[in-house]
Amino acid sequence: MRVLVVGSGGREHALAWRLAGSTAVTEIFSAPGNSGTALVGTNLPVSDTDIDGMVKAATDRSINLVVIGPEVPLALGLADRVAEAGIPCFGPSRRAARLESSKSFARDVQDAAGISGPEYRVFHNASAALAYAEYRDRPLVVKADGLAAGKGVAMCANLEEAKSAIMMCMQDRMFGEAGETVVIEEWLHGPEISVFAFADGENLSEVVAATDYKRVGEGDTGPNTGGMGSYGPPTPWDETLAKQVRSEIMLPVIRELAARGSPYRGALYCGLMLTDDGPRVLEFNCRFGDPETQAIMPRLVSDPAEVMMACATGSLDDVAPVEWSDSPVVAVVMVSGGYPGSYETGLEIHGLEESAFDDNDSMVFHAGVSHAADGSGHLVTSGGRVLTCVGMGDNIDQARHHAYGRAAEIRFDGAYYRPDIAMLASGQTARIP
Ligand code: AMP
Ligand code: GLY
Repeated sequence: MRVLVVGSGGREHALAWRLAGSTAVTEIFSAPGNSGTALVGTNLPVSDTDIDGMVKAATDRSINLVVIGPEVPLALGLADRVAEAGIPCFGPSRRAARLESSKSFARDVQDAAGISGPEYRVFHNASAALAYAEYRDRPLVVKADGLAAGKGVAMCANLEEAKSAIMMCMQDRMFGEAGETVVIEEWLHGPEISVFAFADGENLSEVVAATDYKRVGEGDTGPNTGGMGSYGPPTPWDETLAKQVRSEIMLPVIRELAARGSPYRGALYCGLMLTDDGPRVLEFNCRFGDPETQAIMPRLVSDPAEVMMACATGSLDDVAPVEWSDSPVVAVVMVSGGYPGSYETGLEIHGLEESAFDDNDSMVFHAGVSHAADGSGHLVTSGGRVLTCVGMGDNIDQARHHAYGRAAEIRFDGAYYRPDIAMLASGQTARIP
């Protein structure tokens, strides 16, 4: 199989790395990829939003399977175009991807499938939204309906905050079209967990869970980010909860989308809050998470290419059951100083020799890492989330030490990572370093 991975983040490096370990795969391409995906295959200089260019690249290179990492190309209909070109594609159609690209669509699917989530209302004009916030007068969550690069959700502790979030979306159009519709939700409480499974349009694989540390600072403080770390299997999470989430939440979504004529093929991501009343859906995403993928790909026992091909061709039953190992994995994201605000790029990265990518205990997935423009061969920073250090072990504490041990070897000016990823789960109270 010749496989093309679309995207350029840590998630895509983890996907390309895991696919490279498949005996079914003869060659891996990434587009546009990064310095990490270049270690496991060939990068193609095509932007992940250049739909025509991507389809052409897949055709020109006689690709047998396209694996789409990020949500934006999915929302732009890349999967539809790849399928039209006759190439199996791992990733949902534009219509099925609305599960992520429209929060009101996702809530509608959820209701139709009888899945429990927060109480919510959808608004298309500001005055009705403001009147509702006033009437509720309690902590609310105001969400832009469309894709907003993870910035479209406002946690509003009081009426004033809710009003300003509504005005920012609907009047100031801070998120453009994505905020023309808003969803206002009840503010739920409890630990959050990300759950993933493979879907082939009709069937759903066994699920796997990981956490996502969204806040930039130790102890969950500071602004939200794209994700500062992850670990799994998480606490609290067990076989009973896995079965419940699979059969009561994720499978009903797949069935509902199939019934609507939009079969869902690809990775289904369910963001859950474990409330006192049981698991409640915060969001669905139409792809794997970043940085969760860096923490779950090392745990995928089944052949990734066979599983993804089965999703693309509606034959997941043939490769069932999809097996996930219970071995703990901890992923620590190293970011540029200043992230998620403004930050410098082009800073030389030390301690990231190409040969040191993978050993038995730890590895590094690249994201905002590039080769210096001066041809020196040096690796330099080129993004906010620069790389993910991943540790494995017999227990969470060991996995955590391996991840942080790796992080301690890597240096660049202003480098920062949270010292408390998986800290409580490891039974430790000590931050690292
Ligand atoms: P979303 O993009 O919808 O997942 O929202 C991003 C983050 O906002 C989630 O990971 C939660 O931390 C938080 N969030 C979203 N919806 C709710 C809700 N109804 N109650 C509490 N927190 C929420
Ligand atoms: N880790 C959050 C996301 O991928 O959306």
